Amino acid sequence: MATEAKPAAPTEDPVKLAEFEARCDRGETIEPKDWMPEKYRRQLTRMMSQHAHSEVVGMLPEGNWITRAPNLRRKMCLIAKVQDEGGHGLYIYCGTETLGTDRAELIDQYLYGTAKYSSIFNYPTLTWADIGVIGWLVDGAAIVNQTMLAHASYGPYARAMIRICKEENFHKRQGYELCATLARGTPAQKAMVQDAVNRWWWPSLMMFGPHDTNSPHSADLLRWKVKQKSNDDLRQRFVNLTVPQAQAIGLTLPDPDLKLDQATGDWKFGEIDWSEFNAVIAGNGPMNRERIAARRKAHEEGAWVREAAAAYAAKHQPAAGQAA
Ligand SMILES: [Fe+2]
Ligand SMILES: [Fe+2]
Repeated sequence: MATEAKPAAPTEDPVKLAEFEARCDRGETIEPKDWMPEKYRRQLTRMMSQHAHSEVVGMLPEGNWITRAPNLRRKMCLIAKVQDEGGHGLYIYCGTETLGTDRAELIDQYLYGTAKYSSIFNYPTLTWADIGVIGWLVDGAAIVNQTMLAHASYGPYARAMIRICKEENFHKRQGYELCATLARGTPAQKAMVQDAVNRWWWPSLMMFGPHDTNSPHSADLLRWKVKQKSNDDLRQRFVNLTVPQAQAIGLTLPDPDLKLDQATGDWKFGEIDWSEFNAVIAGNGPMNRERIAARRKAHEEGAWVREAAAAYAAKHQPAAGQAA
């Protein structure tokens, strides 16, 4: 039957689909030229490009503090971290392109369309302590997620994650060390870092996405081994890792319901304010408009660089084949 009219609802060859799913079940890696269901390609393109956008937009809240770092060592760490995040974005855009969508189009969807990026970057960085807390909690949450993704069924994504996780570990350590330093500093420094933890804790938990029961893409991603663990499992792992880290440096987490379940070893936590999460996702977080405006401005002001690079590449291309 005619299936070529619209790409919206692909009807997959059941034999190929079964073979593909068997490969995923066996833990094989899917490579760009392998057959894959259209839905897998689309879900991955959405997920990977969203990840790339998040890396790039994530440079903004921290970049804001580079000129105000309190000493040279902190400034070097922060510059290196922000630069790493830009590199992660470019690396993941390259990985996404292997699925067949051009990077320029992906960036267009994000700057002028409806593509999303992580909700966490729509919060402001109000004090220097926020830089430490972002490294500790935000990069810490990213590591939990990305360590799982290093085993994703799609080869280019999994390989990108292995490399990126090494840098994320540095990001988290420098952040935690900054928090530990402030926590044992003057009363004002300790109060500043505690305040930053209070503001970033819940948004960090939201980074793992909605509850499993409310996560529309999770079932496919789990079945096809893009994800190996659910949002709620990853969130629990992050809480279990982070509570002892907070205790070790004498900081508290702003959740009166936080308590250790002796039977399971899990730290049980209170209910997340999903209305806040939904508002941020819908574009109404504290910094959504500023972030997208800053990215558009940078993209538009960089147009001449892209044009110059394209002109240079064209000039150095052997003239064969193309009628101009
Ligand atoms: Fe990153
Ligand atoms: Fe990072």
